[in-house]
Amino acid sequence: MIEETIKRYRARAEQQLDARLPAGELHPARLHQAMRYAVLGGGKRVRPVLVYAAGTAMGADLETLDGPACAVEFIHAYSLIHDDLPAMDNDDLRHGRPTCHKAFGEALAILAGDALQALAFQVLCQDGDMIRDPAIRLRMQGLLAQAAGSRGMAGGQAIDLAATGQTLTLAELENMHIHKTGALIRASAMLGALSGGGADPDLLEGLDHYAKCIGLAFQIRDDMLDVIGDTATLGKCAGADRALDKPTYPALLGLDGSKEHARALYQEALASLRPFGDRAETLRWIAHYVVERPY
Ligand code: IPE
Ligand code: IPE
Ligand code: MG
Ligand code: MG
Ligand code: MG
Repeated sequence: MIEETIKRYRARAEQQLDARLPAGELHPARLHQAMRYAVLGGGKRVRPVLVYAAGTAMGADLETLDGPACAVEFIHAYSLIHDDLPAMDNDDLRHGRPTCHKAFGEALAILAGDALQALAFQVLCQDGDMIRDPAIRLRMQGLLAQAAGSRGMAGGQAIDLAATGQTLTLAELENMHIHKTGALIRASAMLGALSGGGADPDLLEGLDHYAKCIGLAFQIRDDMLDVIGDTATLGKCAGADRALDKPTYPALLGLDGSKEHARALYQEALASLRPFGDRAETLRWIAHYVVERPY
């Protein structure tokens, strides 16, 4: 059953992340504790699950995928620590408990983010079980760097900050979401695929388009949940976007319009998976989950 597979991927990601994080007693202990707090404190593990699902659909085995799965999740965890800082979204709650800077102070939270970003690339460079081909390894490192940087997630976050209090056009909003959230989700699928050797360009292209669609849909759903979700279920403060006057899909298209848009992206994602046949059941499940998830 697909739910069982997803559960296994999530559990595997938890264990792999834990094993790759420095021990909380290791000097400088508070920094390591802050890193562990941010990564291990919850989270749906959507990106690692996507690495595993995309990778296995392209013929990679799970051991090969552990490194990339952890690398993307370390970048994601770092992005959330910084996203919650007072200088950004100023949030106090994440995963149902105080945000990293509330628990450890702003300075350590910033450093924990910095260190997690570095750890992500250390894993991609040094992991012993990843695909051995050095050219593919290098491509993976470049791909993650681009997805995390000023033309990817960090750039999207800069657009987000500049757009606060503004009304964006649909194209501008889409561009912001594609960068701040879509880039890392797309990178997750690509890192998985490249771990399988990445030989078939048709499959790679289909997968990339699938990931682009669900990456955007993921942030549309995140915007919707900020309106329709409650703080206890979300584990983060509901209504935070409106309080900060953030440009969001519901603000621009309404809830029904946002839902319709996400559904259309879901259909487009499914269509992109056609070349995979029945090898893509888990990827299809993930696409559905992205647009219907309750938190
Ligand atoms: C939240 O991401 C931030 C966005 C990019 C929308 P997730 O919803 O994947 O966060 P966790 O890791 O599951 O908490
Ligand atoms: C965050 O988007 C995107 C990144 C962290 C890159 P949001 O600001 O909407 O995420 P939440 O709602 O705080 O999780
Ligand atoms: Mg934000
Ligand atoms: Mg935020
Ligand atoms: Mg949000």
